[in-house]
Amino acid sequence: MLFNVTEARIKAFEEMMGKHLPAAFIDWLKENGFFTAPASRNHHGNYEGGLFDHSYAVAEQLKQLTKANRLKWEHPRSPLVVGMFHDLCKIDTYTIAMDNPGVEMFGGEVKGRTYVIEYNDDDLLLDGHGDKSVMYLAQHMKLTPEEVMCIRWHMGAFDEKHNWKYYTAAVKKYPNVLWTHTADMIASQIMGV
Ligand SMILES: [Fe+2]
Repeated sequence: MLFNVTEARIKAFEEMMGKHLPAAFIDWLKENGFFTAPASRNHHGNYEGGLFDHSYAVAEQLKQLTKANRLKWEHPRSPLVVGMFHDLCKIDTYTIAMDNPGVEMFGGEVKGRTYVIEYNDDDLLLDGHGDKSVMYLAQHMKLTPEEVMCIRWHMGAFDEKHNWKYYTAAVKKYPNVLWTHTADMIASQIMGV
């Protein structure tokens, strides 16, 4: 599902996640741009709100995969938490400069206005992979070991070659790592969200 406005994104989020999260964390997400950030600069979700639309789609996919394949998780909330926050690292990866006419590269239209997505130069943590998502999420809620592994390895083998053996070991111990990667791929490559 794609949403056109921030309010619709927040409503859908609260319906799906509200009971699983501390209220202060939801406020933090609103204040820090989780509902407005793009998911990328020039790939899927490169528009205002793209990060949320992608995250929502992955949570929904993981929920459906869990039901269809009778997956067992350490905590019943985990498919939603893992899906929704696997890319939390992207909350401050990019900035959207609105009304920036003349800058055409990776630009587009949002409600008739021009914008451009740039990398945020003020990052404190290395972007990419899942470490940063885990570090951010763990500040707001206690995660199960399985949730940590699913988020850390959600990119599957799209990781450094020297990390493959750790990824393989993580899949063996926590098969839901593989389902998390699958849900991410379905959303980004098949649904195009
Ligand atoms: Fe993702």
